[in-house]
Amino acid sequence: MKTIPFTKSDIETLAENHPTPLYIYDEDGILKTAERFNNAFSWNIGYRNFYAVKALPNPYILEVLKSQGQGFDCSSIGELEMSSAVGSVGENIMFSSNDTPRKDFERALELGAIINFDDLSHIDYFVSEFERLPEIGCCRYNPGPLKPGPAVNFIGDPAEVKYGCTLDQLVSGYRKLQEQGVKRFGIHTMVVSNDLHIESLLDTYEMLFDAMMHVHQELGIVFEFINFGGGVGIPYLPTDSEVDIEVLSQKTKDIYNKKVIEVGHPDLSIFTEFGRCMTGPHGYLVTRAIHTKSTYKEYIGTDASMANLMRPGMYGAYHHISVMEKDNASLTHTYDVTGSLCENNDKFAIDRELPEIEIGDLLVIHDAGAHGHSMGFQYNAKLRSAEFLMKSDGSFEQIRRAETLDDYFATLDYKGLKN
Ligand SMILES: Cc1ncc(COP(=O)(O)O)c(C=O)c1O
Repeated sequence: MKTIPFTKSDIETLAENHPTPLYIYDEDGILKTAERFNNAFSWNIGYRNFYAVKALPNPYILEVLKSQGQGFDCSSIGELEMSSAVGSVGENIMFSSNDTPRKDFERALELGAIINFDDLSHIDYFVSEFERLPEIGCCRYNPGPLKPGPAVNFIGDPAEVKYGCTLDQLVSGYRKLQEQGVKRFGIHTMVVSNDLHIESLLDTYEMLFDAMMHVHQELGIVFEFINFGGGVGIPYLPTDSEVDIEVLSQKTKDIYNKKVIEVGHPDLSIFTEFGRCMTGPHGYLVTRAIHTKSTYKEYIGTDASMANLMRPGMYGAYHHISVMEKDNASLTHTYDVTGSLCENNDKFAIDRELPEIEIGDLLVIHDAGAHGHSMGFQYNAKLRSAEFLMKSDGSFEQIRRAETLDDYFATLDYKGLKN
């Protein structure tokens, strides 16, 4: 059963000044989740999550996560600036980018971020372009073709994935870093996404421990940290079960002891870059039913669209929908719940059993707190919505205003389109 931390009357009050659609994030929920991860991994002295800013790039949210000791995983100059704006610079930033523009690398270096090399050529690039390397040498590992076994939840076959270096390249890369005088090291991978299976998450961790120890044995490098990236999934479907973080952590500890400590590598910090599981369940897209339509199917047209939440249209992803104050009503209707884009995949739900929906009803689309607003776009001249933080005291703070047509036209120098 999916719950909602606010009431219909809260939304009607908000909507007097702020029209739907709008996003609401639950501060308490985010804080509790962040705390839970910290507690679960507290056996590891240096454990830290570097929140993946791309999941919900809003400085007010970053402040909430920072209050729980989180750093930030950034992948572009915009995300770097956001992290810097909330006072997180230096080794509070993990810069994991790919196909990176020069100015992004330059800014990451200037901010003292931990830079994660996606390719060996970037090491030479830093030396020739900036005449220096970052303080810490970190490379991203791609394990290559899948071996038969339980690891079924990788982001496709890693061999087809553009990120990271092969094992041989890792050894050459770290050797190069050593030769250039780098003294501190970390290692990274990110090959799973939205994974709800502890065993396949652990497969990834084990695979990275093995790669790290291979480099350690080849080059004598002692690692300060190992970064498992993101990838812990969330139960989008009401029938899904959430990942038991405490079990994941304890099993990670067993692998860590076996693969690292028992073979003589000193203690090191475990880093993660969880985005989805940190804020995803605590974000809600609130939209109003504005039309009903009956042709070959029954449609509910909303005032939101795929431009506000792309995941259902792009991935066929399930997002649970509640009709406010009709949670206990019988599911008497089967609807396609749509937006207004001129694209037939602009549907939040297809053939979804829901209570009868009337024009004016408020719908809440769940689990929209990661890769939701951030994946918004402006196709069909649609505008991005406002974002609100529901504070621990129950008040609502607007943390991003809704875009206006003036915003949309701001980059067009054309008479008649400016105020
Ligand atoms: C490098 C990197 N780290 C972390 C993440 C966050 O992953 P998730 O939101 O699945 O936890 C991503 C997501 O794409 C990523 O590319």
